[in-house]
Amino acid sequence: MKIAVLAGDGIGPEIVAEAVKVLNALGERFELSEAKVGGAAYDAHGHPLPPETLSLARESDAILFGAVGDWKYDALERRLRPEQAILGLRRELGLFANFRPAILYPQLADASTLKPEVVSGLDILIVRELNGDVYFGQPRGLREVEDGPFKGAREGFDTMRYSEPEVRRIGRVAFEAARQRQRRVTSVDKSNVLETSQLWREVMIEVSKDYPDVELSHMYVDNAAMQLVRAPKSFDVVVTGNLFGDILSDQASMLTGSIGMLPSASLNDRKQGLYEPSHGSAPDIAGKGLANPLATILSAAMMLRYSFGRNDLAGRIEAAVERVLADGLRTADIAEAGKASVGTREMGDAVVAALRG
Ligand code: IPM
Ligand code: MN
Repeated sequence: MKIAVLAGDGIGPEIVAEAVKVLNALGERFELSEAKVGGAAYDAHGHPLPPETLSLARESDAILFGAVGDWKYDALERRLRPEQAILGLRRELGLFANFRPAILYPQLADASTLKPEVVSGLDILIVRELNGDVYFGQPRGLREVEDGPFKGAREGFDTMRYSEPEVRRIGRVAFEAARQRQRRVTSVDKSNVLETSQLWREVMIEVSKDYPDVELSHMYVDNAAMQLVRAPKSFDVVVTGNLFGDILSDQASMLTGSIGMLPSASLNDRKQGLYEPSHGSAPDIAGKGLANPLATILSAAMMLRYSFGRNDLAGRIEAAVERVLADGLRTADIAEAGKASVGTREMGDAVVAALRG
C-alpha cells in the first residue's frame, strides 16, 4: 500500500498529520512518502506541481491530499497558482470520477443550518466529473473583443465541452454506485440552454438502458440547487459535470453542518485514487490548530476502501469517528455556539484512542 502524502498549504499539513497518525494506529504496513504541493511547492521549487511530486503521485497506489491555496499567491500568473497542482494531478492521472458524499451524522443534526427534520438521516452521493467541462475545455484565454458595441474591450473566454465517452464513463460510475445504494440517479445539467448538457442528457439516457434496476431522473442545475435545500433527502446519487459538481457539492456539504466533516475520492480507471477533504486550505485559521481533521481522516478511510479494498480498516476508522462524535467531542466548526471545542490534534488523538479502545 504505497501512499503519496501531499499536505499542501494552509491547514493542509495540520489535518494530514492527524490522518497519518490514524493510519499508523491501524497496525498495518503502509509505505508513506511525502512531497510538496501547491504554494508550498512553489515556494520550494518554483512550481505548484513539480516533476518529483507528479512522479511520486504516478508511482503511488493512492494519494492522501490536504489542501492547496493561499491569498498570498493570488498575484501569480495562473499556471503557477497553487490550484494548478490539484487540477494538474486530476488531469495527469486521469482522475475523472469524483465521489463527494454528504452524510449527516446523527450526532451533528443540530449543527446544520437547516431544520433537523429536513436533514436528519441525509445521505447523498455527488458524483462529479473531474477531467472535462469548462475547467479544461480549449480554447480559453483573454483577448480583445473583435466587434460589436464592446469592440476593443478586454474579454475572457472559456469553453464548456464534453465528449460522449467522457459522459458515458462518469455515467457508468454513477449507476454502479447507485446499485450499492438506493438505486436512484439524478443527472444534473442545463440542457434547456447548453448543447454540452443536451449531449450529457442523451448519453445518460443511453447509459441507463444498461441499468434497468436503477431509476434515472434529470434536473436542471438551478432547480437542483433549490431542491438541495428544500428537500435534500429526495436525492440518492447526483451525477453532474465538473463546474456544476463543484458548486453543488459545496452546497450539499453545508446541509451536514460543516464542510469540515466531508471526505472525497477522485478515481481513475486503474483504481488509483486521490483522497482529500472536500474543504479548502482555510488560510485564515492555518497554523492555529483549530481545523477539523475529520474530513481528512474520513478521506483516509475512503482510500482504504476504494484503492485497497480494505472495508474492514475503513469501517474501523469510520466507527472511531462516530464514537468520538457520540462522546461529544467537537472542533470549533461543529461545536454549538457557546460550547467548548477541541483543537485539531486533540481530535486526531481522540480518534486514535477510539480505534485502540
Ligand atoms: C474543489 C476545489 C477546486 C475545484 C479548486 C481548488 C481548483 O474548489 O476541489 O472543489 O474547483 O475543483
Ligand atoms: Mn470546490
